[in-house]
Amino acid sequence: MNHKEMLYEGKAKKVYAMEDSDLVMVEYKDDATAFNGLKKGTIEGKGVVNNLMSNYMFQYLEKKGVPTHFVEQIDDRHTIVKKVQIVPLEVIVRNRAAGSFCKRYGAKEGLVFAKPTFEFSYKNDDLGDPLLNEDHALALNLATKEEIDQIRHMALTVNKEMGELLLSVGIVLVDFKLEFGRLPDGKIVLADEISPDTCRFWDAKTGEKLDKDRFRLDLGDEQQGYRELFKRLGLEK
Ligand code: TMP
Repeated sequence: MNHKEMLYEGKAKKVYAMEDSDLVMVEYKDDATAFNGLKKGTIEGKGVVNNLMSNYMFQYLEKKGVPTHFVEQIDDRHTIVKKVQIVPLEVIVRNRAAGSFCKRYGAKEGLVFAKPTFEFSYKNDDLGDPLLNEDHALALNLATKEEIDQIRHMALTVNKEMGELLLSVGIVLVDFKLEFGRLPDGKIVLADEISPDTCRFWDAKTGEKLDKDRFRLDLGDEQQGYRELFKRLGLEK
């Protein structure tokens, strides 16, 4: 691993510089937080699941025509990705009501939507990642109209492709959060991670939650949820 100094430490990952300044190395930690860092804990082995699952999804999505930041997996916790400038939007697609959607609108958890919904939040921890609309994002110069159109199209493609893949292994993709980045030439690529930390996954038969909601909601045995997902995707060694 030819990495240099640590550039940044986030809640679930560390990012290191590389000799090649177009690349960075990501390290996935076992640390878990919820409610903007108010709840803290550790889920043993989570970093490995999230790294491997994210890389699996990114490679799958590349094949389906969605460009991503993925370059190469180094080991169970480390991956080389293209260095991007993150667009400060948390892009959320929902297929069923859960989480903040239920809290905000009083919807019953599990309500199936006729079509997926698209929303974004301003990625800003100090402000608590507030929900915002397209006009607000444009007013704040967070992205251009063209970028937002591209991001929406890519996010809906991710929903379709990942939803089909997961359903084939008995998992319902309830909702998820994506982040996008700009390459030096301005091209938009899918970045950050796709994992049980950033998606809601329910067992298609039992409705059992197999994601970070187990931690957020104190449902217990978080590790087992992450492991089950790993098994279903055939990633267990
Ligand atoms: P929400 O229902 O709490 O708004 O979450 C929607 C989706 O986004 C869910 O799959 C979990 C994911 N998410 C993150 O990845 N990071 C976050 O900080 C939050 C609040 C949600």
